[in-house]
Amino acid sequence: MKERLNLPADAAQARMQTEYTEGVRQILSAQYPDAAPKAFVHTYGCQGNVADSERIKGMLSAFGYDFTDSPEDADFVLFNTCAIRAHAEDRVFGNVGALKPLKEKRRHMIVALCGCMMQQAHVSEKIKQSYPFVNLVFGTFALQKFPALLYRALSTGRRVFEVGEPDAPEIPEGLPVLRDSAFKAWLPIMYGCNNFCTYCVVPYVRGRERSRSPEAVLAEAREIAASGAKEITLLGQNVNSYGKGSADGVDFPELLRRINGIPGDFRIRFMTSHPKDCTKELLDVMASCEKVARHLHLPVQSGNDRVLRAMNRRYTREQYLELVRYARKVMPDISLTTDIIVGFPGETYGEFLDTLSLIREVRYSSLFNFIFSPRKGTRAAQLEDPVPHEEKAKWLAELLRAQDEIARERSQAMVGKVYRVLVENEAKEKNGLLTGRTDGNVNIDFPGPVSLIGERADVRVTKALNWILTGELTDGQTI
Ligand code: SAH
Ligand code: SF4
Ligand code: F3S
Repeated sequence: MKERLNLPADAAQARMQTEYTEGVRQILSAQYPDAAPKAFVHTYGCQGNVADSERIKGMLSAFGYDFTDSPEDADFVLFNTCAIRAHAEDRVFGNVGALKPLKEKRRHMIVALCGCMMQQAHVSEKIKQSYPFVNLVFGTFALQKFPALLYRALSTGRRVFEVGEPDAPEIPEGLPVLRDSAFKAWLPIMYGCNNFCTYCVVPYVRGRERSRSPEAVLAEAREIAASGAKEITLLGQNVNSYGKGSADGVDFPELLRRINGIPGDFRIRFMTSHPKDCTKELLDVMASCEKVARHLHLPVQSGNDRVLRAMNRRYTREQYLELVRYARKVMPDISLTTDIIVGFPGETYGEFLDTLSLIREVRYSSLFNFIFSPRKGTRAAQLEDPVPHEEKAKWLAELLRAQDEIARERSQAMVGKVYRVLVENEAKEKNGLLTGRTDGNVNIDFPGPVSLIGERADVRVTKALNWILTGELTDGQTI
């Protein structure tokens, strides 16, 4: 883990953060005179949440906390939560419930919940009523208030809830960042979403789109590059609308060009790009920027025009396919990935087959598939949903079988070729191999020294088993 500071916040925000940080430090050093207290932070959901947690950990470290991997010996436990599907929420409630006996043993332990779930009034109300051992709850708009909120909880001993949606949300700047990785960095460029896809809770829990200033983004990118990181991933729910309506005229393609101009041996990735705003200009800029990875995550959700309209996605199957054709024309080696929702309310099997034919046409490197999950307050949650869950699960299995076949063929085609990978960690199977990720976001396992982790290496693919690729280090040419 590495600690760095990003751009200073405006003066008032900065003063408040410093004063309350000092206040929390003093309380903690009186309460824990012998050894630093320990914090446990667990993050659910998307990379946006992971990036928020890195800032929360930066603040915890500034308060004087050390970190632990287990809530069992923690003095402060925080779950940063996700509301995207019911499954995500159920897990959080289960894990919060499991803290109750621990809290009975460790009465001084502070339990805190934050993130998207807490931004929903019905959830924070339930926590207030039914989980009395939770000390601190704050929503997605209160990240920069964390020092003040923890100070209040510690100094009064009372429960603190900060979950409202302000009229003019602040963009959190100037917070310390404790990054999980020394060689891969998340860089939020915007917050919120204006799209209101009918199934999605994000616009309700993250508010309207607001972009960080290009100066703030570029300063953080420079700082990451100077630290020697090998990869920067720009984050936003719809990065294509970065800077819309801003006076300085820096839009997303221009931001990419500027980050590409920062010296350093790093790759640039971004997510997520909404097809309705993904322009040919953006694809041209990707093609012309040597640091931008040849990978595009372009969530399609469905291959059927009626379903796309019902989802309020605002593009057609044909417009989507045209983008894919253009992307491949200007970047023949580009790897495409997507998100798909199976069983949107009212979707028929015939309509689902259009999604199946679309994935066969595009031939993605990988897919993220979800069965539709009704979210309170969204329009789709009120639609008739006659298809039973078991039936949707069968459609999903059919989709996965089709994708397996595509992945197998794509993997076979990689055998014998050499790819430059970023070596990320030891392989999951703990079989003594390392895992590297190609520019196109494909993993290859290969034997090698752990000292390579965080470095780039050239790997020849020797074997493809379904989508699992194995290879060997080479000094040879990359393709
Ligand atoms: N902003 C991104 C998506 C963020 S949510 C975009 O527009 O592409 C990540 C994925 O979760 C979505 O792409 C969608 O496939 C899935 N998802 C969102 N809400 C869902 C719901 N209610 N049920 C099932 N899947 C959902
Ligand atoms: Fe949700 Fe749609 Fe916004 Fe993505 S673009 S976060 S799916 S509302
Ligand atoms: Fe989940 Fe919030 Fe991200 S709902 S997917 S953590 S924006």
